[in-house]
Amino acid sequence: MNASTITIGGDLTIHRLGFGTMRLTGPGMFGPPPDLDAARATLRTARDLGIDFIDTANAYGPIVAELLVRETLHPYAGITVSTKGGMLRPGPNQWAVDGRPGSLRAAAEASLKVLGVERIDLWHLHRIDPNVPADEQFAAVAELQRAGLIRHAGLSEVSIEQIEAARKHFPVATVQNAYHVIERRSDPVIDYCEREGIAFIAYFPLATGALAAADSILAPFAARLGITPAQAAIAWLLARSPTLVAIPGTSRVEHLRENVGAAELRLSADDLAAIEKVGRKAAMLRAPKP
Ligand SMILES: NC(=O)c1ccc[n+]([C@@H]2O[C@H](COP(=O)([O-])OP(=O)(O)OC[C@H]3O[C@@H](n4cnc5c(N)ncnc54)[C@H](OP(=O)(O)O)[C@@H]3O)[C@@H](O)[C@H]2O)c1
Repeated sequence: MNASTITIGGDLTIHRLGFGTMRLTGPGMFGPPPDLDAARATLRTARDLGIDFIDTANAYGPIVAELLVRETLHPYAGITVSTKGGMLRPGPNQWAVDGRPGSLRAAAEASLKVLGVERIDLWHLHRIDPNVPADEQFAAVAELQRAGLIRHAGLSEVSIEQIEAARKHFPVATVQNAYHVIERRSDPVIDYCEREGIAFIAYFPLATGALAAADSILAPFAARLGITPAQAAIAWLLARSPTLVAIPGTSRVEHLRENVGAAELRLSADDLAAIEKVGRKAAMLRAPKP
């Protein structure tokens, strides 16, 4: 693993290319994955390739992804496991939000048990629940930290204003928003995180697979460079900001190896600009017409 490192919350140093576990679940991110052995092999290979940051959530499966992480990686020597609470997955492709303080506490306590740890290194509020005052949710996160259930806390899918509101309650160590070469709405958030020493974790780094596919918009340019479209997408992300951590997800060992290979690449400024241009063009084509 040749990605550079970042230190989260002042004391947790990880490589900036991690692994996302949401895909290690069944159809619609519900239940166990169709090939459990392949899921286990993917997690073990991630560790063997030097990945030291694993992103999961109690809602993935639900519990399935956390259980697989525990089964394959416990006691996590040298690995930081990041999990989340505050979202529910009642059925395939269904999401619900529950940010009531008691529910957040219960979620963190359940993750502690499932992951088999005394304290969670990094815990995210998966979403700010629009039906619960945000301050109550942030206070609940602060309380998890005070009580020693979690070491560092982060937010997911948030604006700068929301980060600043949360920072009145606890030190925001990480922000996890959707971000890739086409989805650039979090650019100002990344710049803010870079200035403020907050790690920005880019989820959906491969646009849920579209950027990695054979017909990816990056395919022609990647072919010219002799790399794969997934590698071009990840290399661009890693170059975007030293505060950015990419967590591509896959259920396949061969894709994992390919993705980790992106950390070896050092693309020129011209190549990075060319990738960015392709992304901006695709974003324009995707934007709703006035
Ligand atoms: N905070 C949040 O609210 C939030 C929301 C969503 C996701 N996340 C996190 O972000 C992580 C990443 O998101 P994601 O997994 O949904 O999307 P992603 O990383 O953008 O893309 C994953 C998809 O790309 C495919 N893929 C991966 N590498 C490939 C390669 N080299 N070649 C071809 N296809 C490839 C995978 O299929 P194969 O399995 O076939 O490789 C999978 O379908 C999640 O696992 C999760 O940890 C967080």
